[in-house]
Amino acid sequence: MLKIGVLVSGGGTNLQAILDAIDSGRITNARVDVVISNNAGAYALERAKNHGIPAVCLSPKTFESRDSYNEALLAAIDGYGLDLIVLAGFLVTIPPAMIQKYRNRIINIHPSLIPSFCGVGYYGLKVHEAALARGVKITGATVHFVDEGMDSGPIILQKAVEVLPGDTPKVLQQRVMEQAEWVILPQAIHMIANGEI
Ligand code: GAR
Repeated sequence: MLKIGVLVSGGGTNLQAILDAIDSGRITNARVDVVISNNAGAYALERAKNHGIPAVCLSPKTFESRDSYNEALLAAIDGYGLDLIVLAGFLVTIPPAMIQKYRNRIINIHPSLIPSFCGVGYYGLKVHEAALARGVKITGATVHFVDEGMDSGPIILQKAVEVLPGDTPKVLQQRVMEQAEWVILPQAIHMIANGEI
């Protein structure tokens, strides 16, 4: 049984997609042992509690330095003995020590077809604003392993989504979530849990 920790910062719709996929059997051999947020107000924490999953808030603001926050984050994760860490809209940079220790055991969902619209400054709605500004007709989402770079690790799954006339960043974000993110993130977890990756 793959023990998963999900790191979040916001609404947690990707977390919900993972929990729903486990409940419905689309993800097998895996369970979510903890949800960690950097943001006390993240609705994702409520989703975890509603599911009976430990919901932990670790905010960098409550630590003296980034180093002490990084140590606390790593200690919290180590404490749960996790096999896989899923970044589901987690907007904090992962400390290098954690990347080293959990190499090939941290995955991230990004709301574009990497290498487009990724890297420093591209997160959340900004990704979709940039896609619309560039006028692309196809966008999508990517699940990838996390390495030392920003959105640069090996790609696991991608799914394309059409951009439609009249799309606003929010409308496009919702379509990318529904048609791509909530599909490929659970799929990647299922594949990892079943030795297919
Ligand atoms: C998702 O669209 C995710 O792909 C994005 O943040 C959103 C979180 O939504 N992540 C990034 O932009 C990472 N660079 P959620 O909290 O509802 O899952």
